[in-house]
Amino acid sequence: LPLEILAPRKNSSGLNMNIHSQGDEFFTKVRSFQNNHWQGGPIVGGELIEADHRVAVTSPQQTTHQMGTIGWADAKLAEKALTLANKAFPAWTRTSADERAQKLEKLADLLEENLHEMIALCTLEAGKGLQDGIDEVREAVDFCRYYAIKARELMGEGETLPGPTGEKNELFVQGRGTFVCISPWNFPLAIFLGQITAALATGNCVLAKPAEQTGLVAYRAIQLAHEAGIPGDVLHFLPGNGGEIGAYLVSQEKIGGVCFTGSTNTAQAINRALAARSGSIVPLIAETGGQNAMMVDSTALPEQVVTDVVHSAFTSAGQRCSALRVLYVQDDIADRVIELLKGAMKELTVGDPIDHKTDVGPVIDGVAKTTLEQHIIDIQQAGKLISEAPMPEYTQGGTFVTPTAIEIDSISQLVRENFGPILHVIRFKHKDIDKVIDDINGTGFGLTFGIHSRNETFAYDVARKINVGNVYINRNQIGAIVGVQPFGGQGLSGTGPKAGGPHYLYAFMTEKTFSDNI
Ligand code: SER
Repeated sequence: LPLEILAPRKNSSGLNMNIHSQGDEFFTKVRSFQNNHWQGGPIVGGELIEADHRVAVTSPQQTTHQMGTIGWADAKLAEKALTLANKAFPAWTRTSADERAQKLEKLADLLEENLHEMIALCTLEAGKGLQDGIDEVREAVDFCRYYAIKARELMGEGETLPGPTGEKNELFVQGRGTFVCISPWNFPLAIFLGQITAALATGNCVLAKPAEQTGLVAYRAIQLAHEAGIPGDVLHFLPGNGGEIGAYLVSQEKIGGVCFTGSTNTAQAINRALAARSGSIVPLIAETGGQNAMMVDSTALPEQVVTDVVHSAFTSAGQRCSALRVLYVQDDIADRVIELLKGAMKELTVGDPIDHKTDVGPVIDGVAKTTLEQHIIDIQQAGKLISEAPMPEYTQGGTFVTPTAIEIDSISQLVRENFGPILHVIRFKHKDIDKVIDDINGTGFGLTFGIHSRNETFAYDVARKINVGNVYINRNQIGAIVGVQPFGGQGLSGTGPKAGGPHYLYAFMTEKTFSDNI
């Protein structure tokens, strides 16, 4: 891209917690929201709707702590929102790309102004650590500014095409209609707003359905979006149960597309629902999970490997779709790597996410905790425990899962997705490298892959053969940055295109050619 287009956009700067003055003020401000009682609910046509069904929101770090309540939308309200959105679409899509982009840039500013409250919400409602909270707001801000710039670039003038003498041919892009955006709890602000801002920037109206577990973060984000000037009839907020409200929305004839991030099963169910309905054929943009692997050959530096493994597997309590699940270590250095891994895991601090010394916070809820703990029990039948992180007493009040590493023989032993702080380790011999590649590809998932090796030819050869969306060489494999590491997978891991990448916005647009002989 020409530098003059890229130059004005910079990712947000975040905070350096090692600078004490910044750190102290930051903690005090975030903690000042700790006893807030947030109240949220559906927003349709710019109005907060009094919902009949209200649910209490408790915090995964201490499940007795009720941090607020939220009202849930029903199908009747969703129908009203869709009618209003479809009515608003023609005017919104004809608004200039620059005008829409300015509103998204204003939203980015408002997120930065409300940084401490948004981080407090992320830590309390989603159990995110402080650093995760900072990164979450940064990513949301970066999405707003990135898609604003991209939309200006792609949606400005029509593209003039060659044609016979006297005929003028031009290609235009425009929004598709009303997008249903269904987002996950693990990035309750960044992915929530990433989907919405991509759809809005390209001239679509939006019905936003957040994850059940994280409606309050999402509610505040929608309030800020409206404050930034996104019209109330263009962007509607429908918190509620996925099986009811989400299912209702994707079955509707008059939607323009669906953007979904979450489990592979749900993405497949949405695909079927879209196919079964009548009405126009609309796109599904889906980003789902992964059975992500890292491969370590005998030339790798064990200390660096272990630092990157621990970061990739246990940051955010392993609840990132990018997180490392299966570590393949070449047998020559496996004992050394496993020994260092044991030591590193003993040093992990599990506990209060709002404490800056904490490395691993809680998992999202009791259902996730039960499923993950059952997985640890089951997989130990087939494997051998390597190490568990120490669990302080504090963790008994919340939905914490012990960070665990287990040695197993084969990836085929992982019969289910495990979305939490569990690492599986497999030793391999160099002669079996093709089998290892086949095994990783054989899972059908294709999100992230890490490789540690000082043999560049080997690293690139393996990386090219592994079918994934994001490859990381000699580093950790999480934390993709907007505009730097466009993020998204293939196969069971999603449809693409990549969020935070130059092609993402095309999926939200439709094209129109004018052949003019006036
Ligand atoms: N984008 C996130 C990451 O790269 C995962 O969803 O970690």
